[in-house]
Amino acid sequence: MAKIIAGIGSSHVPAIGAALDNNKTEEPYWKRVFSGFEKSQEWMRQTKPDVAIVVYNDHASTFSVEMIPTFALGCAAEFPPADEGWGPRPVPVVEGHPALASHIAQSVILDEFDLTICNKMEVDHGMTVPMNLLFGKIDKTSHWPCPVVPLAVNVVMYPPPTGHRCYMLGRAIKKAVESYPDDLRVVIFGTGGLSHQISGPRAGLINSKWDKNFLDNLSKNPQKLIKIPHVDYMREAGAEGIEMVMWLIMRGALDDKVDEVYRFYTVPASNTAVGHIILANRERGAKIAARHKPAGKHKSTARHKRAAARAKVERVRG
Ligand SMILES: [Fe+2]
Repeated sequence: MAKIIAGIGSSHVPAIGAALDNNKTEEPYWKRVFSGFEKSQEWMRQTKPDVAIVVYNDHASTFSVEMIPTFALGCAAEFPPADEGWGPRPVPVVEGHPALASHIAQSVILDEFDLTICNKMEVDHGMTVPMNLLFGKIDKTSHWPCPVVPLAVNVVMYPPPTGHRCYMLGRAIKKAVESYPDDLRVVIFGTGGLSHQISGPRAGLINSKWDKNFLDNLSKNPQKLIKIPHVDYMREAGAEGIEMVMWLIMRGALDDKVDEVYRFYTVPASNTAVGHIILANRERGAKIAARHKPAGKHKSTARHKRAAARAKVERVRG
């Protein structure tokens, strides 16, 4: 049976992708951002998920004002990087998991969430930047470490889904994954945000107090977040801060009580606040980790290494 073992929240600022692609990660401005993900990459190397579900939004790459699905699930075998105006990012084609994606589509739609099924979809920085931040830089001729089920959410054109709807969709995805017969360890990403506004009189808006409160509640009290109306996101976190509702899909797919493994927050990257969090399910994660321990006299080594790595991770608060 498949299990969601952890959720990852990450900003998907396009300038981070450009900095990575143009080898600027050691420049002081960008090192501040990339160094905050070094421990996350180590955690990901230790965790080795079988599949990642990545909740993100398309930025007029696959969709446009002509067609705006609220929730679009990628069921294809592969998802090429999109041309975002300067050509596609030099990242590998994202390999899908059509069997799991189709299973999620069936389960979630029968639970009355009307997903759009996409059998052809290109993916932009909204997906590939968080993947780079967690998996590291990967040559475009190589492969991402695991297949991905993309879930695109409309947060670009009014009306986006409510935070409550997103959280409940996460709940339905959790149920879907747990009814998938294969023994898969799944992580789910929520991407976007945190506070930012890219145009208008308030361009450059960042609200660190709001962002940190959001991260606190995401970890300990997500029920507080699902009641937040769109207008509060717009006023407090800027027009594009509405992307944060996508993190609630990730949180809804986790257990009620989770362990906060890691947190990172820094401002700014381009004109956006960068937030990142890793939340792990408790017993299930431990049981699954134990199942993967090697046999023989060193059989607890892998689990202990993972526990030690988790213990060493520091909570970084900007
Ligand atoms: Fe975005």
